[in-house]
Amino acid sequence: MAFEPEKPETTHPPLKVADDTYLIQQTQKAAIGPLWVYLNSLVIKGSEPIVVDTGTPVNREQWLKDVFSIVDPGDVRWIFLSHDDVDHAGNMREIMEACPNATLVVTWFFTERHASEFGFPFDRCRWVNDGDSFKAGDRTLTALTPPLFDSPVTRGLYDDRTGVYWAVDTFATPLPGPMDHMDDVPKEDWQQGITMFNCWNSPWFKMLDQDKFEQHVDRTQKLELELIASCHSPVIRKPRIDEAFSMIRALPSATPPAQPNQGDLDDLMHAIANGEEYVWEPAPPPGA
Ligand SMILES: [Fe+2]
Ligand SMILES: [Fe+2]
Repeated sequence: MAFEPEKPETTHPPLKVADDTYLIQQTQKAAIGPLWVYLNSLVIKGSEPIVVDTGTPVNREQWLKDVFSIVDPGDVRWIFLSHDDVDHAGNMREIMEACPNATLVVTWFFTERHASEFGFPFDRCRWVNDGDSFKAGDRTLTALTPPLFDSPVTRGLYDDRTGVYWAVDTFATPLPGPMDHMDDVPKEDWQQGITMFNCWNSPWFKMLDQDKFEQHVDRTQKLELELIASCHSPVIRKPRIDEAFSMIRALPSATPPAQPNQGDLDDLMHAIANGEEYVWEPAPPPGA
């Protein structure tokens, strides 16, 4: 039996979101209901083009096509990897092979954690820690730990030329369908989606000291931000950027729904057997 993942049903063309900056998009339908999640990455053109995260293996062919519709492989100078999850580093090998002039920007810890899967060409690597900057031609890029994350190596990326911040997994939210930006989503729905996704993805949220967390969030919010791009959300523009940060700041005292359990899987299997669409009903939060 082959355990092949389902290829995405729909393709979404690259979306220009700021000067020189293109969102490479993929959506994935959740098994538990009519909900979609984005799996984005970014291409920054300019005098030294940068690819920010590398998409998923299941979308490899389309992802490479999308990236190289924006920039020629030989022109890519930097490949920034935020962390080692498969939805962010899924085509690292392929893009490194395709782009011989590119330097891989990662952390030392990334290379150690991933060494059993990928032979890092250290002469083509650059190690950046939290707060480190590097110059990419006409812009300076700064690696900065995002407010929330799900791997210890995670670094976001701030572009001083456009004010775009790559927030990695922070601000993730499930959606009823694809959309280009968050402008039309009602605040209540957005808050619910952000709470559920971010609490599940960073389950240590409940151990946070509110004051220390707020100081950590300040580091990102005090940047001169024009736009937030992230892997699992449409882009967030002013004036909704502050709204999004307020939602993140509220998470230490949030109560997300319990995750789907075996009873839900039984219902899902029953729906599949009967050719029905399964819609998951969140149970009350544990202890509620
Ligand atoms: Fe992640
Ligand atoms: Fe992710």
